[in-house]
Amino acid sequence: MSTAVPAATVTGRRAPAIALDRVARTYPGGVRALDEVSLTVEHGTFLAVMGPSGSGKSTLMHCAAGLDSPTSGSVRIDGREISGLNETRRTELRRERVGFVFQAYNLIPSLSVEDNITLPLRLAGRRPDRDWLRALTERVGLADRLSHRPAELSGGQQQRAAVVR
Ligand SMILES: Nc1ncnc2c1ncn2[C@@H]1O[C@H](COP(=O)(O)OP(=O)(O)OP(=O)(O)O)[C@@H](O)[C@H]1O
Ligand SMILES: [Mg+2]
Repeated sequence: MSTAVPAATVTGRRAPAIALDRVARTYPGGVRALDEVSLTVEHGTFLAVMGPSGSGKSTLMHCAAGLDSPTSGSVRIDGREISGLNETRRTELRRERVGFVFQAYNLIPSLSVEDNITLPLRLAGRRPDRDWLRALTERVGLADRLSHRPAELSGGQQQRAAVVR
């Protein structure tokens, strides 16, 4: 089902931030990276996913964030089933509801730090809040690097730019 489900249920209880139900992901070539994983993450909680390299952590994150579609199973973000959504709807949902720090950061090399950080907002047709941008970048020690390109940053600075984005 792809229709929106309200975040609050009739009992008044807020739907989990993320709910995976028997999620499987098989890559072309046959690697079964996820084998029926079920997981609930409540709002306001932190969760660490740990496991050996190649065990499926990034695949799990990509499916949970709507970046990738599971081969089977259900993924709900804020109570909304995303497995039936088309690519456009999933993109919109991610833009509004999901912050994602990629393992390889995925900063765009040709854009400045500032433009990288504000890109998702600008794609959504919204104006970045200058004061908020300044406050965030000062907090992570990037305020004096806003005009730099990602290749001119240290690894840690690139990581923090990805976090702010
Ligand atoms: N696009 C792909 N096509 C085929 N196989 C893939 C693809 N992406 C990942 N895999 C395989 O799926 C498995 C899970 O990969 P994944 O990237 O989720 O691992 P990980 O737990 O995040 O590892 P790491 O700790 O090294 O980041 C690995 O065995 C990997 O080789
Ligand atoms: Mg990984």
